[in-house]
Amino acid sequence: MSEKRVALVTGANRGIGFEIAKQLATAGLGVVLSARDEDRGRRAAAALADEGHDVRPCQLDVTDPASVGRALAFVERNFSRLDVLINNAAVSLDRKTTLLEVEEDVVRETFEVNFYGPLRLCRASIPLMKKGGYGRIVNVSSGRGSFTKLAADGPAYRISKTALNALTCVLSDELKETEILVNAMTPGWVRTRLTGLRAPRSVAEGAETAVWLATVGNDGPRGGFFKDRDIFPW
Ligand SMILES: NC(=O)c1ccc[n+]([C@@H]2O[C@H](COP(=O)([O-])OP(=O)(O)OC[C@H]3O[C@@H](n4cnc5c(N)ncnc54)[C@H](OP(=O)(O)O)[C@@H]3O)[C@@H](O)[C@H]2O)c1
Repeated sequence: MSEKRVALVTGANRGIGFEIAKQLATAGLGVVLSARDEDRGRRAAAALADEGHDVRPCQLDVTDPASVGRALAFVERNFSRLDVLINNAAVSLDRKTTLLEVEEDVVRETFEVNFYGPLRLCRASIPLMKKGGYGRIVNVSSGRGSFTKLAADGPAYRISKTALNALTCVLSDELKETEILVNAMTPGWVRTRLTGLRAPRSVAEGAETAVWLATVGNDGPRGGFFKDRDIFPW
């Protein structure tokens, strides 16, 4: 069994996921950097390994149950433990459209990645976390999914993140007797390919709260929604 805590990060070949992987490795965790494209994942992991980080690549498409199964088998085989799951992978496919106009297939695809993906990963990861008696699950959500702030523009993306927030609450309560802490966070508006380069925040700023939630002690928060380590309205 690995001596170090081990984290699995989805969609970690670029953007905020890559930065979360880097910050977790800097904090001393062993990191499984997963990506849906094997080559892109391998290149991203190699870039961090070249800087001296303990990072291993793993192919993982969150929409493919077989791929999720293989990734968890990889973690179990290589480390015999999983301490941290970061559900970061997401797509935003319906900017500048409306709920009345967005194609149903686009809504379905968005939910496959942004909601069913994290659901699959949680269900696959929790047995290994329970075995270790420890777990931190961080759902990378969005302020655009905050129920109290829901509005027009990007409806499928927004509603998929609202559903992810609901998943966070329900799962956290189901796990209340365990040392598995489940939380959601929003990185704020960050410069990545998802949003473009006009955003004010760096990936380092966007990733920091996810890394905090991934490494808090057993007295840390559970079932919360955070931005910059502060409570954010659901
Ligand atoms: N950037 C922001 O301002 C902002 C604001 C609020 C919330 N967020 C959230 O932050 C997270 C990261 O966003 P980002 O800005 O870093 O986006 P990004 O640069 O577009 O990165 C998205 C990542 O998700 C991966 N991905 C997409 N579909 C996948 C699938 N089916 N299986 C596995 N991986 C998949 C992408 O892989 P490929 O490279 O193969 O496409 C990529 O690695 C997301 O959850 C997003 O909703 C971002």
